[in-house]
Order: sequence, then C-alpha cells, then structure tokens
Amino acid sequence: MKTRIHEQFEKNFGGNGTFYASAGRINLIGEHTDYNGSFVFPGAIDKCIMAEIRKNDSDKVRVVSLDINEYVEFGLKEEDAPSQDWARYIFGVCREIQKRGGVIGGFDAAFAGNVPLGAGLSSSAALESTFAFAIDAMWQLGIEKFELARIGQSTEHNYCGVKCGIMDQFASVMGKKGSLMRLDCKTMEFEYFPFKPEGYKLVLVDSRVKHQLSGSPYNDRRNSCERVAATIGVEFLRDASMEQLQAVKDKVSQEDYMRAEYVIGETQRVLDVCAALEKGDYETVGAKMYETHWGMSKLYEVSCEELDFLATLAKECGVTGCRIMGGGFGGCTINLVKDELYDAFIARAKAEFNAKYGHEPQIYPVVISDGAHKC
Ligand code: GLA
Repeated sequence: MKTRIHEQFEKNFGGNGTFYASAGRINLIGEHTDYNGSFVFPGAIDKCIMAEIRKNDSDKVRVVSLDINEYVEFGLKEEDAPSQDWARYIFGVCREIQKRGGVIGGFDAAFAGNVPLGAGLSSSAALESTFAFAIDAMWQLGIEKFELARIGQSTEHNYCGVKCGIMDQFASVMGKKGSLMRLDCKTMEFEYFPFKPEGYKLVLVDSRVKHQLSGSPYNDRRNSCERVAATIGVEFLRDASMEQLQAVKDKVSQEDYMRAEYVIGETQRVLDVCAALEKGDYETVGAKMYETHWGMSKLYEVSCEELDFLATLAKECGVTGCRIMGGGFGGCTINLVKDELYDAFIARAKAEFNAKYGHEPQIYPVVISDGAHKC
C-alpha cells in the first residue's frame, strides 16, 4: 500500500512526505451504547487508512484519494468546505482542530486504505484519525490522544451529519495490539483487556450489504434513546433500570420503549461479558453475543434479513457467539468460533449465503492491532 500511495504522492506533488496510519475497528459487545453513556468493548484491527502527508507552506489542502481516484483542493476556512463526502472528513478534522485553537497550514496528501467501506468496520473513523494524528504530529500541537478521537467524532457530527458516539474514533486512535479496550462512555475511563481466547477464533463475516449511517436511521435511534432518558429523568439510559423503564411505559411510544429496552439490556450484557472473560467462560460470552444480535434485530431494528440469516446459520453450525457488529443496516457479523468448527462454518456460510443471496460473504479473520501511528 505504501508504494502505491507514494507513487501518487510523487506524481501529484513531487518528493516525499511522512506516512501515518490509523485502524478500522471491531467491537466484541456493547453496540449503540456509546451515545447512551454506557460501555463498549472495541479493538483496532489490521486494516487501516494510510496517508503520505507533507506541509506545503500555503493555506490550501490538496488531497488525492487513491481508492476513489479523485483529487480535491480546499482552503481552511468554513466557507471552503468541499462537497465530496470523503474530503469532508478531512476538512472537518482540520476545522475541528482549528476550533480548538490549533494553528495549522496547508498540506499535500495521498491516501488509500484496506478497511472495507460500508462493512461496519469504521473506515470513516480510520480516515479521520489518520489525519487528526498526522496534523497534530506535523504541527506539534500536543493534542491528547483521546482528544484526537473527539476531533473525529465532532467531524461526524458537524460535517457529516452522523450524531455518532465516541467508540469508533476511540478504537481507531487508542487501539493496542492484542488487546481489546473496555471504555466507559460516561466517565471516559478505559482499560486494555488482553484478548487471546485459547481454542477460539474471532472472524468477521461480511454480508456485503452496504449500510449508510448518514441520514436519519442512526440519528433516529439516538433521538429515541434521548427521549426515553428525558422521560425517566436520567442523563443517559445507562443510568436507567428496566424497572424505571417499565414505569414510563405509558409515556413513551412503543418504538422508543423497544429501543430503550435493548440499550438497558446491552449495558448489562457488556458487564456480564467482562465478568465471563475474566473467568475464561467463552460460552457465556458467546451466549451474550447472540442475545445482542436478536436485540439489535427485534428491538433496536438495525439488522437486516441477510445478517439474521448469518446469525441463524452460525447457531446451526455450533458457533459459540455471533452478532451483527457496528451501527447496523448491513455490514458484518462478528463470530466467536471454536478452532475445530472454523473451517466447516466458513464453508457453509459461504455456500449457503451464496445460494440464497447470489454472492459469497467476505471473510475477515480478526487480528487485533495498534491504533493511530506514524509508519
Ligand atoms: C457506529 C457509530 C458508533 C456506535 C456504533 C454502534 O459505528 O459511529 O459511535 O454508536 O455505530 O455501536
């Protein structure tokens, strides 16, 4: 990837820049919990966005996207916002840094990535984190790593129309090889959790059904949660119990009730999974993953037919845990599967999915890797 990027950098701008990269992410459990002040359990993966970047002593940013095969130029003032979606991520990062007092100038960049787009692996967070990390390093701004993640999150909110939580950018920036991270999204305290389940593999099965979080469905879920929290009288749903939810049943819509029921259940499941992991009890971890899947499908309604099919098939194949991962509306399932069942599961998933939907799912074994870095 480096060679390809450099070719384009040299062709467009001449000479050499510095390489930076940031990762896509998985999440073991804790979905749609981040913006509810609750817990998530993500890790960075060995798929990243990588950029070669150099200051250009002007007030213009000039960027080449290899994957989209486009060149964009923009200034650093609010009215300079580019119209291309991918370039808005980079523009947003620049603006969010400036809003925080960072004095930066123009730069040239070429970038590419191998985080599959629309698969729920946070390619956009990887893009934001790569540029936030690089800009901070190039202008020696001394921004805390956690703040770099917030810069990516604010970019989504203010320039891309997605009121996302902090999980994706957090994982992309802070990830550590071999470790998952449990983040408390209310206090923002987190701990690294070495994750190497003996006798099991973690694998993603990508339905290749594309999801698009921008627009209403994601933000609608968040609004539902906020309405119920306000009705109960708590800041976040994380602070509400099932009893408190039941007590307001007549005051909220049935749809909002279902959304909140899922979130309150999911908060407990993350805690249960942590306790089970400490005991090496992967059967419980897996059972909770299935519960999450069906909660996301039936109560939160962010699954789709193809992903429900994959979860049902995984169960039939004896897979320990399987669930839709990420925001939903397509993308991947994450599967915890015993070594000895792995090959048979993958073969069946490919064949039976293909027979029903006319294409094979993509398979990605998970390798938990480092987050944002210079390379
Ligand atoms: C998307 C968002 C995250 C999180 C997940 C669902 O990936 O960007 O903040 O809410 O969906 O867990």
